Amino acid sequence: MSSKSINAIVILTGAGISAESGLGTFRDKDGIWTKVNLEDVATPEGFARDPVMVHEFYNSRRQNLQNAEPNAAHKALARLEAEFDGDVTIVTQNVDDLHEKGGSKNIIHMHGELLKIRCGNCGSVREWLQDLSQDIPCPACNTHGFLRPHVVWFGEMPLLLCDIEPALSNCDLFLSIGTSGNVYPAASYVSQVRQLGRARSVELNLEPSEGATLFDECIHGPATEIVPAFVDQLLA
Ligand code: APR
Repeated sequence: MSSKSINAIVILTGAGISAESGLGTFRDKDGIWTKVNLEDVATPEGFARDPVMVHEFYNSRRQNLQNAEPNAAHKALARLEAEFDGDVTIVTQNVDDLHEKGGSKNIIHMHGELLKIRCGNCGSVREWLQDLSQDIPCPACNTHGFLRPHVVWFGEMPLLLCDIEPALSNCDLFLSIGTSGNVYPAASYVSQVRQLGRARSVELNLEPSEGATLFDECIHGPATEIVPAFVDQLLA
């Protein structure tokens, strides 16, 4: 497929694009949710029940992320954004900053960002690289016990949906990279794009996702191999 007939590309990414950077995925055989119960660490109820455990879970992921590097797939998407003559929007389910580190600029973090925290009292959001605990007061409103990772938990509303919907409606190429298609609304985006009938949809994943049959084309393999190759073809 050449990029001649394409004006706008939306790229949905999931944990699989960061797997080769050493960050865990969730539902693979040794994924994060096979080691810790998501109800305990990725729900508001879990945080209310045991905030210490939740802070420990995100503190170790936050530290781990700061040693991780973007891989060839992240860098290929940044090259696409830099060289493609049209819009490239990354809609990521990932809370890591590897798209930013890889050089991408137009990124929508629909599940929040691991290197940011939010105050449950005043709503302020700020970058935060060190460990978080209940004893740390909010730098904005000075209350204790309300600071939490700026990450969307199960049962909470994903972020920036108002930015995602127009991008999906406007795109003529929709790529889905490194996601199992298990979590909504992200898993519905390929159907939304199909219904609009404008865009070609391509899945680039290690193996067929839950929604694989909905895509016009599926390319399976490690992201660091298939994503740069796909970008080369697009930019040819
Ligand atoms: N290259 C390409 N794809 C890969 C690779 C790789 N090296 N390694 C794994 N994958 C694929 C897997 O085959 C799987 O389909 O990445 C996908 C990862 O799926 P999940 O672990 O379910 O992660 P994701 O789809 O991002 O989860 C969505 O669920 O837990 C919530 O909020 C969390 O954002 C996350 C959401």
